Amino acid sequence: MGNSKSKMRKERRLSDDEARTQEETHSNQDLYLPQKKNEVERLQSMHFLFIHIFECRFLPPIENKLKDGAFVLDIGCGPGTWILDMASHYPCSEFYGFDIHVVFPSQIRPPNTHFKQANALDGLAFDNDSFDLVRMSSMLISFDEQQYLGVLRDSFRILKPGGYIELIESEIPLVNEGPIFQKLLDSFESLLSSKGIDIRLAQKLESLVSSIDGFTSIQTDRRITMLNEPEGGISGKLLMQTIDEFFQSSVASGFAAGLGLSLEEYMKHWQVCKDEIVTHGTGLALRKVCAQKRF
Ligand SMILES: C[S@@+](CC[C@H](N)C(=O)[O-])C[C@H]1O[C@@H](n2cnc3c(N)ncnc32)[C@H](O)[C@@H]1O
Repeated sequence: MGNSKSKMRKERRLSDDEARTQEETHSNQDLYLPQKKNEVERLQSMHFLFIHIFECRFLPPIENKLKDGAFVLDIGCGPGTWILDMASHYPCSEFYGFDIHVVFPSQIRPPNTHFKQANALDGLAFDNDSFDLVRMSSMLISFDEQQYLGVLRDSFRILKPGGYIELIESEIPLVNEGPIFQKLLDSFESLLSSKGIDIRLAQKLESLVSSIDGFTSIQTDRRITMLNEPEGGISGKLLMQTIDEFFQSSVASGFAAGLGLSLEEYMKHWQVCKDEIVTHGTGLALRKVCAQKRF
């Protein structure tokens, strides 16, 4: 552990001015801000929902490494919910997380957690072969496809031989969308594709990973959760709440402006979509893709 720890490149913390410039030059920051209180709570709920929906924290080989003591990196860690939860389950492992925004705990935190502010698009400031597990979750609207692939390549570089990558994203389109919701998502798709973002990235994860020579044992776990009651049960109800918060709060003003609607018009439209999700029996597919770096 001491060895690998000393391999981490020393990073200075950004000054406020530098951080602001970095935020301004990052094209997608106007659409999504994780600092909002509701968004932090939403990401926390999503974390526990993902564990419930996938019925496990990790595949067995990853879990064994974590029990023995592993180095783990969460890229775009947001409020650090995943890291804080995992750090308490696997006290022998060291958990690193970074995010472009400081939403993670900067002072009081478990001793086996390490957070810093950094932009993944500046390259991952860690030495080659440093980590046993690198993960990214819900980064769909943070990167365009080439940027995502670039971060994946860099993740490969910093993984130890035999180390794992784990990626989790939500599939768009949803399963059994009604016509009004479909139209709203089509508008989002055009808006985001004008910024280079592909909202269908989840469906491409496996091919992106396999395009990197040296990733092996690629596995996909796809789980559909119905969002209406009673079909979706408690997971569906909670997932629907997080989707509602996402559209109503986290991205509402950015999306309304991008679609040329007033916030009030956008909210009314979203309400109609929400009703349709229930009457139509819409579901959300989550995709988890894991792969191992060849020894
Ligand atoms: C939807 S949140 C997901 C957070 C966390 N991965 C989770 O699953 O709860 C996306 C996160 O990516 C961060 N992010 C976006 N662009 C980034 C970049 N270029 N470098 C580092 N973090 C970035 C955002 O600040 C935000 O916290």
